Amino acid sequence: MKTPLNTKDNERLSSYMKLAEARAKHFIGYPIAQDFDYSELYPLLKLPLNNVGDPWVESTYDLNSRSLELEVLEFFAELFHAPANNWWGYVTNGGSEGNLYGLYVARELYPNGIVYYSEATHYSVQKNIQLLNLRSIVIRTQKNGEMDYEDLNAMVQMHRDQPVIILANIGTTMMEAKDDLQRIQQILRRQAIKNHYIHCDAALAGTYSALLDLKPGFDFNHGTDSMAISGHKFIGSPIPCGLVLVKKNYKDRIGKAIPYIGTVDTTITGSRNGHSPIFIWYALKKLGKEGLKQRALECL
Ligand SMILES: Cc1ncc(COP(=O)(O)O)c(C=O)c1O
Repeated sequence: MKTPLNTKDNERLSSYMKLAEARAKHFIGYPIAQDFDYSELYPLLKLPLNNVGDPWVESTYDLNSRSLELEVLEFFAELFHAPANNWWGYVTNGGSEGNLYGLYVARELYPNGIVYYSEATHYSVQKNIQLLNLRSIVIRTQKNGEMDYEDLNAMVQMHRDQPVIILANIGTTMMEAKDDLQRIQQILRRQAIKNHYIHCDAALAGTYSALLDLKPGFDFNHGTDSMAISGHKFIGSPIPCGLVLVKKNYKDRIGKAIPYIGTVDTTITGSRNGHSPIFIWYALKKLGKEGLKQRALECL
């Protein structure tokens, strides 16, 4: 790739670059941060970083950013009160992958479970349910976009013989509505459902809700079994990313050792972005928890 671009391709590239820069100035409507400066990290873009496989198990592909990925995961595990010594996670390509992972773990636990999710849920969830060949029931929403708990109660009651997999929204895409885990768990108790799993799609509102300790709570202390978080929304990243956190004893049902990568295949994709965990790590270190909290307050 040493030869320069020909004139036509060079013009094509510079006109695209001008267009993208101009668009970025007026880009609204999507909940993503643009106020980042990762220029200190640019030299890393010359390197083919790849975090293939499990973040905790070193790979023969040692040109990776696993050690920084683990620090990112630890920050979020603490923020979301993941149970000490019983959590696991990885940096994903975004919220959809985190939701797929949560549902995948749920299916491994309860292959005949039914997924209950509200009609305001992000489109990725329905696709993920189809990919996993899970049964599902769509629950009505209230006017504010929150799940209709009476409808959930009625649907769970009708299928009391099946395990329940709840996909709760912590910030719906359109209205930022949050489903109430406490009310959901009351329903599960009322219907005497012993086999259940709760995944929170916290891609949109998870990080700032936890930083500001907004009610109702939704983290591991409040009954979630796994959650999907976005990296490119509230924090901001030039590459879409996110992370998934899950109770480790549940995740342990997944994954095989793959000799030639020297690690364990516990993630959805094989090759994983080695750069995006570094962007998130950098933002966490630059801003710190207090800086992030301040950022959340400024967004209100
Ligand atoms: C609530 C919610 N969940 C999941 C997603 C999917 O995230 P991604 O586009 O990063 O896969 C989005 C994206 O807008 C979202 O708003």
